Amino acid sequence: MKTRALILAAGEGTRMRSQLPKVFHKVAGIPILFRVLQTLAPLSQQIAVVLGRDFEQSATMLRSAYPETSVFHQNKRMGTGHAVSCALSFYKDFDGYVLVLPGDLPLLCAESLTSFLNLSKTENVDCAILGFEPENPFGYGRIVADNDAFSAIVEEKDASEEERNIRLVNGGVYIFRARHLVEFLPAIENNNAQKEYYLTDLPAILMKKGFDVRVITANDPDDFLGVNNREQLAFADTTALNRQKRNLMLSGVTILNPESVRIEDTVEIEPDTTVYGPAHIFGKTTIQTGCVLQPGAVIRNAIIGKNCEVKPYSIITESTIGSGCTIGPMAHLRPGTVLNAGVKVGNFVETKKAILHPGVKASHLSYLGDTEIGEETNIGAGTITCNYDGEKKHRTEIGKRVFIGSDSQLVAPLSIGDDAYVGAGSTITKDVPPCSLAISRARQTTIPDWAKKKKGKKCNQS
Ligand code: UD1
Ligand code: CA
Repeated sequence: MKTRALILAAGEGTRMRSQLPKVFHKVAGIPILFRVLQTLAPLSQQIAVVLGRDFEQSATMLRSAYPETSVFHQNKRMGTGHAVSCALSFYKDFDGYVLVLPGDLPLLCAESLTSFLNLSKTENVDCAILGFEPENPFGYGRIVADNDAFSAIVEEKDASEEERNIRLVNGGVYIFRARHLVEFLPAIENNNAQKEYYLTDLPAILMKKGFDVRVITANDPDDFLGVNNREQLAFADTTALNRQKRNLMLSGVTILNPESVRIEDTVEIEPDTTVYGPAHIFGKTTIQTGCVLQPGAVIRNAIIGKNCEVKPYSIITESTIGSGCTIGPMAHLRPGTVLNAGVKVGNFVETKKAILHPGVKASHLSYLGDTEIGEETNIGAGTITCNYDGEKKHRTEIGKRVFIGSDSQLVAPLSIGDDAYVGAGSTITKDVPPCSLAISRARQTTIPDWAKKKKGKKCNQS
């Protein structure tokens, strides 16, 4: 039978104490709601989401990432049952099952959802509730059974002492027949502790009408952990990261001290790369095979080619690194950095909008911004591209096989031709033609015996 999915995400998320709607908080780098959508996508159903708070803004964020999704608005938070009724047109004329699930289950995975769906369908049930046994059932609706048959779901706030001791809880994921939603949702009342229309009352209503209502217990309770506050957010984040690291390790990535390594779900790492802890790797990052990331790497939205070595405490943001590069220790590669193959960027070197062609070396203490540097050029220690005149940024173009002496300032806009030399300690303000030497420091004066006169006999000439 056909299935559509309806995600409830219109809650206030009060317990998060946040300006941002709960389902847009991120777990392992991906908004909670998008994680649920990602999980549902391969099950290729029509999907709808009920949104509430900051509707326009939330709907825009959702549509930009998942344009196929239908969006409904629950104006006022009146409970999960009321939220489902806000999407009436999504299931009104549909002859099939509706999978209803909350938007706050970031650890949901396709396998557990598929087995829930398949079990429901093969048994041809009228309603199925996904139950699980968390370590701590506090806050969840308890599933009350009567001689092993489903009887009711009782919310924490409405539960008796005895009911609170029940360990089997409602995962918030259900299968209903579309026509049952149309017919029986209006029967839900709000005479409960929160004065809300609880969707959790619907299975009991169906049961009383003689329909076949089942509880299907999940194998891995972690899959259905809800996020209601920041503590649960952190727990979900850690759990998702552990899954990601495990998958990477099993696929051939070495991760040392994994508990101190953050690799978000948006990151790809190829086999035979080694990541030492601590490390934080975020965003759309790809790290190819054979790399070594030594301790302290912080990498965001970067592509790192084969066999690179990132030495300790280096930061790489929105940059593209070719194969066989050496970076750091303590290098800072800022947005727009492109290192071609075999480039060396050493300690305390900062780059921004800098294209370094193959074999360039900038081994120590430099700032290279708004620049392009030709192949095999050597940038001496302490070189600075002076790219900012207080109002505008200017470019420095450096040719191939150039030698820039240590402690030079290159005042942009500036161009230095192929095979040119810049003497150490120079401040270069005018273009340097190919093959020439530019030197701009004051000529050295040495005065013999100067110190002897000053210090008299104390000056010990050996
Ligand atoms: C809900 C269930 C509880 C279950 C738990 C599983 C109810 C009454 N309780 O409790 O039995 O154990 O989920 O995680 O359903 N929402 C709306 N509109 C509303 C209220 C909620 O769209 O008016 C959405 C929320 O955004 C959320 C989901 O429904 O994604 C569940 O709401 P939440 O307030 O988190 O319910 P729980 O207290 O977790
Ligand atoms: Ca919840």
